[in-house]
Amino acid sequence: MKLILLGAPGAGKGTVAKLLTEVDGSVQISTGDILRGAVQAGTELGKQADAFMKAGDLVPDDLIMGIMEARLQEPDCENGFLLDGFPRTIPQAEALKGLLDKIGVKLDMAVNLDVPRDVILDRLTTRRTCSNSDCQAIYNVKSNPPKQEGICDKCGSPVIQRDDETEEAISKRLETYNEKTAPLVSFYEKEGLLTKVNATSSDVVVKSISEKIGI
Ligand code: AP5
Repeated sequence: MKLILLGAPGAGKGTVAKLLTEVDGSVQISTGDILRGAVQAGTELGKQADAFMKAGDLVPDDLIMGIMEARLQEPDCENGFLLDGFPRTIPQAEALKGLLDKIGVKLDMAVNLDVPRDVILDRLTTRRTCSNSDCQAIYNVKSNPPKQEGICDKCGSPVIQRDDETEEAISKRLETYNEKTAPLVSFYEKEGLLTKVNATSSDVVVKSISEKIGI
């Protein structure tokens, strides 16, 4: 499947993307995971992205498009991809459209994960993430804790709170989402690609997407 997952911070894009990879082997591409990996590795990209991310701001469009133009043309994308956290602005969506036209790839749909704001705030303050940049498994102290407290079930690395999970950064991320990313819902509606789902349960979302795509 070739999907875009839209939704506010904490809507469950990463959680749903990881579950969908198990449905048909499509690859999850999370710009947030790529950027956090670059920050941890201390690469030039990481150095440029770090301050934006900590403050809850978006990383500039040209940096993101540089990553995604290359990533979407890697061989593992041929079987399908799940875009998690990209596109995030109208210019990114326009650039993605041009890129996909150029490489002859057609999207199945853009799925908007709809979750009430109080649930989002609760999820973001209780989320924990694996600190290993090659893993970045997602946990939640309330709904999905690791089997051993503070240790990732998958790779055994420490499970931590992200740098952008301070109260101030969360509030800025939600503001940035409303201003710059929420307009993508209308963009994809006009493109005839939008599907809206109530994302209170990730399993229901996965079932609904699989049914709509016919898998
Ligand atoms: P990114 O990593 O993409 O963060 P985000 O969009 O803010 O999304 P989150 O990862 O916070 O949430 P999510 O929707 O994936 O939810 P999750 O599944 O974890 O981006 C981080 C930063 O990188 C940005 O602020 C920006 O600076 C930069 N960036 C990234 N992409 C960019 C781009 N394209 N352009 C510019 N800058 C970019 O779930 C949240 C919690 O809820 C977890 O604890 C989970 O266990 C729990 N949960 C999920 N579903 C359920 C459920 N159904 N029931 C109970 N709990 C649930």
